[in-house]
This record gives sequence, structure tokens and C-alpha cells, in this order.
Amino acid sequence: DASDIEKGTYPHFMLKEIDEQPIVMRKIMKEYQNDNNDLKLDATIRQAMKAADRIYIIAAGTSYHAGLVGKEFIEKLAKIPVEVHVASEFSYNMPLLSEKPLFVFISQSGETADSRAVLVKIKEMGHPALTITNVPGSTLSREADYTLHLHAGPEIAVASTKAYTAQIAVLAILAVDTARAKGIELDFDPMQELAIVANAMEVLTAQKETIEQITRNYLATTRNAFFIGRSTDFNVSLEGALKLKEISYIQAEGFAGGELKHGTIALIEKGTPVIALATQENVNYSIRGNVQEVVARGANAMVISMKGLEQDDDAFVLPQVHELLTPLVSVVPLQLLAYYAALHRDCDVDKPRNLAKSVTVE
Ligand code: AGP
Repeated sequence: DASDIEKGTYPHFMLKEIDEQPIVMRKIMKEYQNDNNDLKLDATIRQAMKAADRIYIIAAGTSYHAGLVGKEFIEKLAKIPVEVHVASEFSYNMPLLSEKPLFVFISQSGETADSRAVLVKIKEMGHPALTITNVPGSTLSREADYTLHLHAGPEIAVASTKAYTAQIAVLAILAVDTARAKGIELDFDPMQELAIVANAMEVLTAQKETIEQITRNYLATTRNAFFIGRSTDFNVSLEGALKLKEISYIQAEGFAGGELKHGTIALIEKGTPVIALATQENVNYSIRGNVQEVVARGANAMVISMKGLEQDDDAFVLPQVHELLTPLVSVVPLQLLAYYAALHRDCDVDKPRNLAKSVTVE
């Protein structure tokens, strides 16, 4: 029962849950591996993935952001086209569905009404559904054909942290399992790479003082903030912005570096905080160009880069992990930035205003 979960020595559930992420990675590795070190997934799920000609990921909020990362895994590794949809919008302009669609619902709580409405609809249409959730007995789990469990342990803070990284890890495993089932040769061992991620997360969660200092330098008094990234860093910048706004009430926006010049750069003033992610080699040069553009307009910009891609004045350097899995580590300092920004503003970190942990109304 969630009410039995204690904060222990932690001041907030959110901080505890951020710290639990390396443990959750290792738990997922254990749960999804058999004694022969092969991936352990329900054969029926494997079949459903293999049979699909297109996958429709349906989710809300942070789970939607995890879905954006999952799309990359499934397309790049398993070679199945994927669409990711915000649950509340899906029914208004339902896409033309492929012949053999598989719907994948991503939901920490498994109770999100917007996602359930889509599930009910697509089940009426006769399509198969897989739910990826932290609560196996939940509505979305019971009403779908298949369930994958996140094994993240109860998440109490309204701001989702460990569920996001668990969702991404499980999606990586699912993508690799599907690729192998389809006979695709991969140069990517998910368990080995997740072990590296778990260690990197431990390094990151031990750097709280550094992040707290960065928060003071960049976000102490600001009313707004921007997160920028290209490629998968863009996906994570959306999540960084959501975390910051929901608990610190700083108006935050995440957007693609290349889109700056198409409008958003007009908002940059002297002192505007811009947090740029640089974890991908192929866009390292171009995202740094964006940083120069905003700095030239007075922004207070900081770069969070990945080891190997770092430059001298980067504010924070992440330990190196596989290029596909960088969201699992780049999100951690963003979670901590949001946490400290909220703390410094005396906000109710675990129970932000106007929000509920699971949104059971449409
Ligand atoms: C995340 O920090 C949010 N509080 C929220 O966006 C959440 O991810 C969303 O409501 C979806 O919830 P679910 O994963 O339980 O479906």
C-alpha cells in the first residue's frame, strides 16, 4: 500500500525516487533476464510485437516523453515504424491505422483516464494492446491483452522520475527482444549497457551539491527557462521543462535547437536561462551553434554534455553511456534542477498545486 511507503531519511519522496533510479535499473535487468543471460519476456508479447506492422504508443505527460524515446529504440533496433500520440488528442484526429497495428500504452499508474479512453476505443475496434505500467493490477493493465511491468516500486511524488527511466529501460529491452525475434543482428547488448547506465546514475545522484549550485546560478530568481536539444536530447528537453514547471512553477519550454530561429529566439533576453543538452555526437556541433546564438542575445546558457563531447566551459559533464541510452542519464540532472528550484522557492515538492498523481478524469 502506497500509504505505507516511508520517506526514511529523505525530506521528499521525489529526492528518494531520484536516488532509487540505479536500483530500479538493476531490478529491471534482473527481472528481464533468465539464468542463461537471455532476455526474459512473455512469448505472447514477443509474438504481438513481431506481428505488428506499425506500433502506436499512447501516453500522457512524462510517460509520453518516455514514448518518444521508445519510438527511437523500436524503429532503430526492431525496424518497426512507430507513432507516438498524446492520449487526450488521439481520438480527435485518429490516424489512418495500418493493417496490423499494435497499441502500446505507457502509464506509470495504469489509471490515466485519457489513455483508458483510447484503450476502450481501440479494443472495440478489435486491435491488440500492450500496457507498460508500474501497477500490474491497474485498469490499463487489466483491460489490455498484455502487460510489461516497470518494477520501479511505488512512485509517490507527483513529479514522475524513476518511472520515466524505468519506462525507457523496459522499452529498450522490448525493442531488442523484438529485433532478436525478427532475426535482426544487433551490435547492442541492453543488459551490459544498462549496467553502465546504473553506475552512471549513481555517479550523478552523488553530485547533488553541484546541481544545487547550478540551480542557484541559473534558476534562483528567474520567471522562465528554456531547455534545448537536438535529436534525442530534444525528447529529454521536453521532460526537463515539464519537471521544472510542474514543481517550481517556473515557466519552462523545451524545444528543438533548430527551431530557435523559427520563433522562440525572440523570447531570449538578458539573463534568460537556457539549458542545452549535448549528448549526441552527430549534433554536438549544431547544438553548440544554438548556444552561441542565445548567448549573443544575452542568455544565461549552460551546457550539459556527455563525456567525450565536452568543451571547456560546460556546466556539467555526464558519465559516458551508449548513445541510444543517453536519456537515462541526461534526465537525472534535470530532475535534480527541478527539485532544487522548487525547494529554493518553498514549493510543495511532492504535491504541487493543481496536480494529482494519477489523472483519473478526461
Ligand atoms: C509527470 O511528472 C506528471 N505528473 C504527469 O505528466 C504524468 O506523467 C501523467 O499524468 C501520466 O501519468 P501516468 O504515467 O500514470 O499515465
